[in-house]
Order: sequence, then structure tokens, then C-alpha cells
Amino acid sequence: MTGKLKNKIAIVTGGARGMGEATVRLFASEGAQVVIADVLESEGKALAAELGNAAMFQRLDVSDEGSWQALVEVVTAHHGRIDALVNNAAVVAFGPITALTVEQIDRVFGINVKGTMLGLKHVGGAMCAVGRGAIVNISSVDGMRGVNSLSLYSSSKWAVRGLTKSAAMEFGHQGVRVNSVHPGGVNTAMGNPQSLEGDAKNAGYERVPLQRIGEPEEIAAASLFLCSDDASYICGAELAVDGGWAAGYYHHYLPAAPAALTSF
Ligand SMILES: NC(=O)c1ccc[n+]([C@@H]2O[C@H](COP(=O)([O-])OP(=O)(O)OC[C@H]3O[C@@H](n4cnc5c(N)ncnc54)[C@H](O)[C@@H]3O)[C@@H](O)[C@H]2O)c1
Repeated sequence: MTGKLKNKIAIVTGGARGMGEATVRLFASEGAQVVIADVLESEGKALAAELGNAAMFQRLDVSDEGSWQALVEVVTAHHGRIDALVNNAAVVAFGPITALTVEQIDRVFGINVKGTMLGLKHVGGAMCAVGRGAIVNISSVDGMRGVNSLSLYSSSKWAVRGLTKSAAMEFGHQGVRVNSVHPGGVNTAMGNPQSLEGDAKNAGYERVPLQRIGEPEEIAAASLFLCSDDASYICGAELAVDGGWAAGYYHHYLPAAPAALTSF
């Protein structure tokens, strides 16, 4: 590895598994001291133990403001500052709009939107106080379009995308960059809940330009870039890491579609 985050202090929410875990591992391998912030204590502690001095676990429920205050206190007491934050923790919920319960709405918005906003408030605030930092908010390709049965999740991810623009306006002039990453389908518990393997995990992606599901490491690479000094002039941007999904879906009845699609 190339030390792109050498001596940087980074927090990854939802860092105990999936895309967050891949981000923790990549950041640590690039020289960062990483704080794994998650509600999953045993997974988070095991990952921190495996990574040794490069990582620590701190329990964080992103929807709870006191939890964020405690996190910032612990990390600044331990490391003196915070250089990078990946607001990655989120949950998904399926169902038609007419069937959504208030409990579902409160849960998804409480974690995905309020959680991201509290991260911006507390960690972003600490970064602004010292005049530097980088924040990546993990949105989704579903934060760029509508999806039947995913209105709740999709609208929460549109909110994360919108929050990113406003935070970039408020924090940019204080030396803190804020950007959003928009994964497509990714091979994690959320994106591949049945843990399908081989060709089976790519089923359904035929109409996406790269025709396959993404791997968590491929999304982590985008967060690494945006948190590193390589992205020193990037603020308020949105980066789709989705195999081309946001660009469009193939229409098999038009020319220039992959030949195999004509059977669909
Ligand atoms: N997997 C996909 O297909 C996909 C696609 C687009 C975007 N995303 C986004 O990528 C991010 C990571 O998703 P993933 O696929 O790794 O999901 P995942 O379910 O595997 O991991 C989510 C992590 O967030 C943590 N978390 C949940 N609620 C929390 C809370 N209240 N406080 C702290 N941590 C909490 C979980 O414990 C878990 O470790 C999410 O923002 C998700 O919306 C995922």
C-alpha cells in the first residue's frame, strides 16, 4: 500500500461489517488509525483486535446524539483530532408507500438521515474547529432515482445527497471537504442477503453496464480517494460507484445493447 492516509485519524460508522469493514481495512492498510463505530459490538471488537494498533472500537448508535458526543470525546482524548469521517451506517426497508408504518419511517430516517446529520454536526464541528478534515457520506444509486418498494430507503439516500451539498457549503470555507459516494448493488448482507456466489450473485444486473454486483472493496476505494489529499480540491461532489447503473439501464430492443440481453 502507499500510505495515502498516513498519520490520519479516521472514523467509519457501521464499520463492523460489509462496506464499512472493507473501508476500515483499507484505511488501516493505508496508514490511518481507524475508529470502528458501530452498534455491533462483538464484530467491531473482533475487527479492532485483528487490526491491532491501527484500529479501536467505539460503540456508536448513529441515531443517538449522546453517542456521537461520547465518540468525539473519546477519539479526541485518544488521538487529539479527527481527520476523516465516513458516514456509512444505514439500514434498508422494503415496502410500498401505502403500507409503510410510522415505526419503519422513524427507524430508517432516524439512522440514515438523522445519523448522517449528527455525524456532520459533531465530527464536522470538531473538524471545523481545527480547520481541516474530509467527510464522505455514503448515499446510494437509489439517492439518484426512484425505486418501487424502496421509497423510504431511496428518499433517505436523496436526503444524504442533499445534506452533502449543504454541508459542503457550510464547511468548505472552514477547510473541511464533504462529498457523497453512491454505490450500486454491493456484495454485503444488505445487497446480497442470501450470500449468493458466482454467477448467481450477479443475476439481475444484466441491464447495468458492467453487468455484475460490486464488491465492498470497490466502494472503499472511492472513500479512500475522497478522504485522501488526492481529492484536495473536491468538495460537494457525488461519485457513483455503481458499475454504470446511474448512467442508465440497457434497453434490449434498441441497438448497442449486449447481445445476450435480446433474450430478456
Ligand atoms: N449493499 C448495497 O447494495 C448498498 C448499495 C448502495 C448503498 N449502500 C449503502 O452502503 C452503506 C453500507 O451498507 P452495507 O451494504 O455494508 O450494509 P450492512 O448492513 O452490511 O452494514 C451496515 C452497518 O451499519 C451498522 N449500523 C446499522 N444501524 C446502525 C446504527 N444505528 N448505528 C451504528 N451503526 C449502525 C450495522 O451494524 C452494520 O455494521 C450503507 O449506507 C448502505 O445504505 C449499500
